[in-house]
Amino acid sequence: MKPAILIVDDEKDTRELMARALGADYRVATAADAELALKALEADPSIALMLSDVRMPGADGLQLLKAAKKMRPNLACILLTAFGTVDQAVAAMKDGADDFIMKPVDLDQLDLRVAKALKTGALENEVASLRSQLDEKYCLENITGSSEAMKKVFHLVRQAAPTEATVLIEGPSGTGKELVAHAIHNLSARAKGPFVAVECAALNGNLLESELFGHEKGAFTDAFQRRIGRFEAANHGTIFLDEISEIPLSTQVKLLRVLETRSFERLGSSETIKTDIRIVAACNRDLRAYVAEGKFREDLFYRLNVVDIRLPALRERTGDIALLVKRFLNEFAAANGNRVTGITPSAMKMLESYAWPGNVRELRNTIEKMVVLSAGGVLDVADVPDEMRASAAIPMPISATGTLAEMEKAKIIAALQSVGNNRSKAARVLGISRRTLYRKLDEYAQEGTLP
Ligand SMILES: Nc1ncnc2c1ncn2[C@@H]1O[C@H](COP(=O)(O)OP(=O)(O)OP(=O)(O)O)[C@@H](O)[C@H]1O
Ligand SMILES: [Mg+2]
Repeated sequence: MKPAILIVDDEKDTRELMARALGADYRVATAADAELALKALEADPSIALMLSDVRMPGADGLQLLKAAKKMRPNLACILLTAFGTVDQAVAAMKDGADDFIMKPVDLDQLDLRVAKALKTGALENEVASLRSQLDEKYCLENITGSSEAMKKVFHLVRQAAPTEATVLIEGPSGTGKELVAHAIHNLSARAKGPFVAVECAALNGNLLESELFGHEKGAFTDAFQRRIGRFEAANHGTIFLDEISEIPLSTQVKLLRVLETRSFERLGSSETIKTDIRIVAACNRDLRAYVAEGKFREDLFYRLNVVDIRLPALRERTGDIALLVKRFLNEFAAANGNRVTGITPSAMKMLESYAWPGNVRELRNTIEKMVVLSAGGVLDVADVPDEMRASAAIPMPISATGTLAEMEKAKIIAALQSVGNNRSKAARVLGISRRTLYRKLDEYAQEGTLP
């Protein structure tokens, strides 16, 4: 079927001239003003392109463009401009016009420009539909992943978000805890309300309490003004308590009360304030261990842990790496306008074999660096930063058969050699902490078995 075009112009002659010119290749509808044009668009969803005059009685072409784009974001639009309205037409490109044509209309030009706008529009639609398919399957609110672990995360987020349940998100640094917290908020009935994040580790004692609960003027030495706390600021929204394990025991008691009764007092006040909040907490340590050590209240832990979402380290879901790499590549290539179009399989393999101690955050920063530093085209092994290259290059020494401990030692020594004995680099390459590496090296030194 031929593509359909809508021609909008208040001059009958112009309408008919263009309709005749385009009639051979397209199905053509016409409208004499903006109002009729919108009716036509509504009536015929197959219209793929609108050609509209700018200056018309009633709503002009620019207003029509905005209204039409609102109704049909994928509609291709070309504006027809007479002398004197060129500036407006250029400005209209921002509102979604694809092109403009000067009047009087050159019919050969018209044909070319229409074909071009339709082609761009069709491509964009195709990309958009591919993207949304991808979104549904491997993406939820910006969280990307196709591993079993991430599918479970998506499922839990979808289930928990619309409820009022308190959620505890656990996972190592850089695994996407904050991203998940945002997703829960955005997919809940509170999405239009505030999302308030509190970095619990950054504040100590009094400061944290005044941040959370607010204070009256004069509540403590530096309290010159009355201040609204985050629990009040988050009213009708979601409060995200990050690094919850770092809250002092004295504040934990107060937090427990907020969880149980949704009420609290500002510091220095006896007035009880009620607040309507959803609580999401995150922790990058093992919170149960904190409970066992007496550093975190058990009753608070159970109150927080109603829904427990765990984000595994990236090296435990290497299947997600390729998808994440592609996503970040697209993102940064678009942002930098530098024409990076892909990545070679061997470079990808290198990224997949690295341990990513900084998890998705480190992967994202790495891809950004690679894209920014690249001249364009397809990223290759040479574009991969040294650390990741060194890690892929560590061979498993042939002598390394035997016990697990012997193999581990051989790998550690090979790693050290591959980075010129730089211990911090070696630890990163191996995906272990520096402290662990030093401990291992101490052991080997004591055994007297270091080469
Ligand atoms: N699954 C994912 N898909 C896409 N981007 C992700 C994913 N996971 C993490 N990111 C990105 O990685 C970065 C770190 O994520 P985030 O801040 O949510 O981690 P975090 O777990 O809160 O880390 P920390 O414990 O250090 O606070 C962000 O830029 C985030 O957008
Ligand atoms: Mg975080």
